[in-house]
Amino acid sequence: MAQPLDPDALRPLFPALARDAAFLDGPGGSQAPEVVIEAIAGHLRNGTANDGGVFATSRDTIALIEEARRSCAELTGSAPEEIAFGANMTTLNFQLAHAVARASEPGDEIVVTDLDHDANVAPWLRVAEDHGLVVKHAPLRAAGATLDVDALAGLLNDRTRVVAFTLASNAVGSITDARRIAGLAHDAGALAWADAVHYAPHRRPDRAALGVDVLLCSPYKFFGPHLGIAAIRRDLAETWSADRVRPASEYPPAHRFETGTPSFEAMAGTVAAIEDLRGLGDGDLDAAYERIRAHEETLTRAVLDRLPAIDGVTLYGIPEPERVADRTPTFCFTVAGSTPDAVAEALAAEGVYVWSGNYYALALMESLGLEEHGGAVRAGFLHYNTMAEVDRLVAAVEQVAALEPGRAAEPPRDEAPA
Ligand SMILES: Cc1ncc(COP(=O)(O)O)c(C=O)c1O
Repeated sequence: MAQPLDPDALRPLFPALARDAAFLDGPGGSQAPEVVIEAIAGHLRNGTANDGGVFATSRDTIALIEEARRSCAELTGSAPEEIAFGANMTTLNFQLAHAVARASEPGDEIVVTDLDHDANVAPWLRVAEDHGLVVKHAPLRAAGATLDVDALAGLLNDRTRVVAFTLASNAVGSITDARRIAGLAHDAGALAWADAVHYAPHRRPDRAALGVDVLLCSPYKFFGPHLGIAAIRRDLAETWSADRVRPASEYPPAHRFETGTPSFEAMAGTVAAIEDLRGLGDGDLDAAYERIRAHEETLTRAVLDRLPAIDGVTLYGIPEPERVADRTPTFCFTVAGSTPDAVAEALAAEGVYVWSGNYYALALMESLGLEEHGGAVRAGFLHYNTMAEVDRLVAAVEQVAALEPGRAAEPPRDEAPA
């Protein structure tokens, strides 16, 4: 049995956590440990160069790219040739969606979900418009803000080309049944296309184990730098048409979807972030994620016990403490009498960093009827968060909830002074 993860032992390794603040903004981006910061600086300090030259620094860059592909391949249960780097997940997804569309016929169908971040919806809407494809939207179940997979199954047919879905919601934390969805997609002859951006700091984004064809994630959500990663099934990466400059190499296959000079320093930081994660499992990534998961489940139970019990607080997302396995420690809520922005401001004044708004989970906020009310507040925990930070969140929300109705409120966004 692995030792429980001790966040107090981890925290000194993350310089930013020395600030007197509860960083509950993890779903928007995590903090980085010193080893990641040092790897980024180290690449620049030692002498960076573009790849393809015959001199030492360029050879170092080539070695770094290969190491980054290997490392991301291991994390994502893929082969190094299947890994493409990009500016971020959104940019990669737009590019890949174009590639799929070019290989489709007018009238072909794409299924997206109302649980997804718009980065896995808007690219499909865009290419559908350009190429005459049909986009179908899988709804949420009424309770608990989870995906209605039975309804999704009903949308599939022999025209379906892609089922684009999130592995976990960046707004309410619900985890989807990826294996089931991938199986349904494959039975219909479609590709299973997974957004692992929110999932990756909490569960291993293992493409092979989840059975998906394309998986995308972003290291800045799992303690690394700003970068996008796509793991693309090799035969697809080899055959799809890509937007690329003519002299660029065709190998490795996923490289065909990389345009221009990438951030080598971000690749160095990503290698360090994955290495650091692996260290939590004594060299084993699955063991590392098991420790993360156990710690996060403890935090989740505590939040679910206490946050919805505060008078005036409504929690969106799976509320049952016994269903911790079905969610990440990301909590979406509103406080009666206060706008989400006002709650976030009041919490920020107490040193509790949370988000307000829709966090680009647009369809979900619309489904929950929250979009026209400024969305909701989101507090997201990561492996470095502590039980003391649960206390700090709860105390700060109690304070806001105890205010006279409207005291923490501000004018709705569109009426706010410029
Ligand atoms: C679930 C999810 N998908 C996609 C994205 C977009 O990722 P990126 O910022 O790398 O484009 C985000 C960013 O918040 C996200 O949370």
